Amino acid sequence: MLVTGSWAAPTSARGFGVLVHGGAGDVPADRVASHRAGCGAAARAAAEILARGGSALDAVQRAVEVLEDDPQFNAGTGACLDESGEVALDASIMEGAGARAGGVTILPPFQHPIAIARAVLEDGQHVLYASEGATEFARRAGFAPSTQAAMTTPAARERWEMVRRGDPEVGWAGGTVGAVACDARGSVAAATSTGGTTNKRRGRVGDTPIIGAGTFADDGAGAASNTGHGEGVMRTCLGYWAVEAMRAGAAPDEAARRAIEHLGARVGSRGGIILVDPRGRIGLARSTATMSWGAAWAGCPDVVTGI
Ligand code: GLY
Repeated sequence: MLVTGSWAAPTSARGFGVLVHGGAGDVPADRVASHRAGCGAAARAAAEILARGGSALDAVQRAVEVLEDDPQFNAGTGACLDESGEVALDASIMEGAGARAGGVTILPPFQHPIAIARAVLEDGQHVLYASEGATEFARRAGFAPSTQAAMTTPAARERWEMVRRGDPEVGWAGGTVGAVACDARGSVAAATSTGGTTNKRRGRVGDTPIIGAGTFADDGAGAASNTGHGEGVMRTCLGYWAVEAMRAGAAPDEAARRAIEHLGARVGSRGGIILVDPRGRIGLARSTATMSWGAAWAGCPDVVTGI
């Protein structure tokens, strides 16, 4: 049964706002607290940057790096394994002022795929690098490769073995990560990172590295980061769809609700979305059982988390 819902965090009509997610899924009760804590740590790291006048782009990159380092999420260390039992990583990042964007897909082990996506954005020649080309770009940009052993957790291996055996995916935590932020100048940015889906076919590309699907940002309307069924998110261009809903006047929580309903109605997929607008207002929605999140905004005493 498809369940939809939406949640609106308090808004900041001036100043900054940041919202991060730890993936649409079904986090078991005994892992709820740690998922929320992980998202809270990422939101706090982003808020520290924004509070000292840093950019939304720097803030979303830092938030996603924190989540990539946290092995309980399906990104960076702890990412899920493909059909050959290896991590193959996807990430993208976009800023809303100049529509600059960067992404990597089917990337072999590197600690922070989102930092490589940021380097792609800064380089500016292309938007998306895949596989060996992404590896070459990363090495040339000065990133040191990691190893399959260092980035594969026992939990990721166990889940891969379960899926290969055909066992039901109980307690699926999802775990794609993302962040959206608006800085004090009213610029927005979005970043998303994932290992994709467990036992995915080699060469599979999900929504996360695709600008307009997993990630989108436009200072005239807002920014989006998606999680959930990547094929459905791509077929609906969901990040762009949600940002356009905000441009048409929907508040972030309303746009998020409509986007996730559209994902279900149009292609029968489930997922979650986080949004921010250029006023720093944030909103989120999910049609999965859980989507851990953390948020902070100008003037809030500490981060707020939920699932
Ligand atoms: N939403 C992440 C993926 O499907 O790859």
